[in-house]
Amino acid sequence: MKIIRDTHEMQAWSSDRRREGLRVGVVPTMGYLHEGHLSLVRLAKAESDVVILTLFVNPTQFGPNEDLERYPRDFERDCALCEAEGVDVLFAPSGGVYAEDHTVYVVEDVLSARLCGASRPGHFRGVLTVVAKLFNLTLPDVAVFGEKDAQQLRLIRRMTRDLNFPVKILSGPIVREADGLAMSSRNRNLDAASRAVAPRLNEALRAAEKAFAGGERGVQALRTGILKALGDLAPGELDYLEILDDQSLSEVGETIRSPVLVALAVRFPGVRLIDNTTLNPEESPHANRPK
Ligand code: PAF
Repeated sequence: MKIIRDTHEMQAWSSDRRREGLRVGVVPTMGYLHEGHLSLVRLAKAESDVVILTLFVNPTQFGPNEDLERYPRDFERDCALCEAEGVDVLFAPSGGVYAEDHTVYVVEDVLSARLCGASRPGHFRGVLTVVAKLFNLTLPDVAVFGEKDAQQLRLIRRMTRDLNFPVKILSGPIVREADGLAMSSRNRNLDAASRAVAPRLNEALRAAEKAFAGGERGVQALRTGILKALGDLAPGELDYLEILDDQSLSEVGETIRSPVLVALAVRFPGVRLIDNTTLNPEESPHANRPK
């Protein structure tokens, strides 16, 4: 596996592969890799000839009081995992990717207005800007993102379409711990009391899926069921619970008639966790969907 630290070298490497007629896949990450990331690498490998994993903890997507400093990092471990998974290039830009006096950002203000966009002002401006830059640096045919970051995924698809990036966006399903907690690099920063409560996010979403599979279509009833299953989240507290149109992320009426995204976020001490599911009335109401 090749480790590239320099942005110009990264662009040149990808240009050369493309000139050779190879399909380039990229998996953008902030490192501290887990099975969720590795599942995205496998998806990228299935769709391309060479795979780049980018590792960059992007400062512009963290707010001033967020966990940029505490974000877990372990470069040696990440290298070993990438090597074992058959990644061709680990791109870990040593000087970052921003000019010191950079002033240009990518901003979207409709899909990013709610959910994490409302709780973390400026977050998606940072995400879209860095993803656009990573696309320009790695020149991918295919890019793969995780479905845990549901709003991020929709925003990246929108940016790719609206800015005409010639990149196919693929997504990989949420990978969970044995107790259902969605895998996240941040999980390691949970204290014991928070870790014990954290699986409740998944349990509440499963409760909603069960009610929906049983025929429940009322937004209010589903919300009530989810809140009941979440219970007292101490030492955490609910940041948001939203049931929105799956694509436009806009309000749905009282009754679900088209696919919706059920998304929630919980703030634990020093760590904010998100999770989600989609409910689709076009699927058989009594079928248990594989997850
Ligand atoms: O999902 C992430 O890890 C990050 O938001 C991303 C897409 C790598 C951009 O920094």
